[in-house]
Amino acid sequence: MKLLVTGGAGFIGSNFVHYMLKKYPDYEIVVLDALTYAGNLENLKAVEQHTGFRFIKGSITDAQLVDEIFQQGIDAVLNFAAESHVDRSISAPDIFVQTNVLGTQVLLEAAKKHNVSKYVQISTDEVYGTLGPTGLFTETTPLTPNSPYSASKAGGDLLVRAYHETYGLNVNITRCSNNYGPYHFPEKLIPLMITRALNDQSLPVYGDGLQIRDWLHVEDHCSAIDLVLHNGKAGEVYNIGGNNERTNLELVRMILKELHKPESLIEHVKDRPGHDRRYGIDASKITRELSWQPRYTLETGLKKTIQWYLDNEAWWQRIISGEYRDYYRQQYGS
Ligand code: NAD
Ligand code: TYD
Repeated sequence: MKLLVTGGAGFIGSNFVHYMLKKYPDYEIVVLDALTYAGNLENLKAVEQHTGFRFIKGSITDAQLVDEIFQQGIDAVLNFAAESHVDRSISAPDIFVQTNVLGTQVLLEAAKKHNVSKYVQISTDEVYGTLGPTGLFTETTPLTPNSPYSASKAGGDLLVRAYHETYGLNVNITRCSNNYGPYHFPEKLIPLMITRALNDQSLPVYGDGLQIRDWLHVEDHCSAIDLVLHNGKAGEVYNIGGNNERTNLELVRMILKELHKPESLIEHVKDRPGHDRRYGIDASKITRELSWQPRYTLETGLKKTIQWYLDNEAWWQRIISGEYRDYYRQQYGS
């Protein structure tokens, strides 16, 4: 099988490439990634020499390039490419619309033209908006996104749906809760708190810190996407979640405890505008229909993730210093 993985140099995309080439060594994977600030080729170093692996630097918004890639024969597309950080979407929303909406449409159009057998859109539970203290997001919860990020992801999802309904493209949409694990860019909560705590810097908690997220280890996300790719029913949406709801404060305290650092590092800072209070996923559909089960609890997954950051300090130090951007130039020239 030949897969196009867009955004494969980012956090979840690179974990997915590792996961798939380990499980299916004879698959071919083409990664298309624009290498924005969030894309890091070092995340793919371990698979660079794999015979079935190929990297192409470019944007999903580049219709001509995307068409050329599809001409070489692609069986399935997994679209991870996105602008993914809520805080950045608040200060600069336009690039979110370009990548997450227009880029998705370019990929869909090429997938339709070249009769690709499966298109999987990697989406987010944030398209459902926010929850009160009870209840969970199901696949039929109305889309009520609150940030420019989640609004642009919802826009992409609606186009994916339309390409199924109108043109019969075999699509799936996955909507996942917050991921964590190796190669997570240290602007997001968990890696930011681990790396700052290791440097004895203050840990900026937005507002009262009582916002709730449902944490899923990235490997469990990858196993779910693998099942959707091979067995997902055409046109269906699948929620993916870890049953691991925690307040941000609880999570930050878990990290501090594991690192033997004092809670005095916690600093409450100004809240994020439009901050969603609670996310919680009902993943019973994918469990029932595709027999998916997460392997990690938050306790086991967080411990392993913290160990990964301790063992891979050079990786995150190069991000913090900006040096990771040199890798592409060294490896591939200009
Ligand atoms: P990330 O920001 O770490 O990676 C995104 C990747 O996409 C980067 O490598 C970047 O270079 C690439 N990219 C950006 N614009 C591009 C473009 N125009 N063309 C080609 N490549 C481009 O994001 P992530 O956390 O790995 O998220 C991957 C996907 O999963 C996203 O679609 C995101 O919405 C979704 N998601 C993420 C989470 C999470 O907790 N991280 C949860 C649910 C869903
Ligand atoms: P984040 O990792 O940005 O994911 P998302 O906003 O997509 O859920 O943030 C997770 C939670 O952590 C969210 O409630 C915002 C909060 N947060 C902080 O309190 N401080 C921070 O510095 C960051 C980055 C996030």
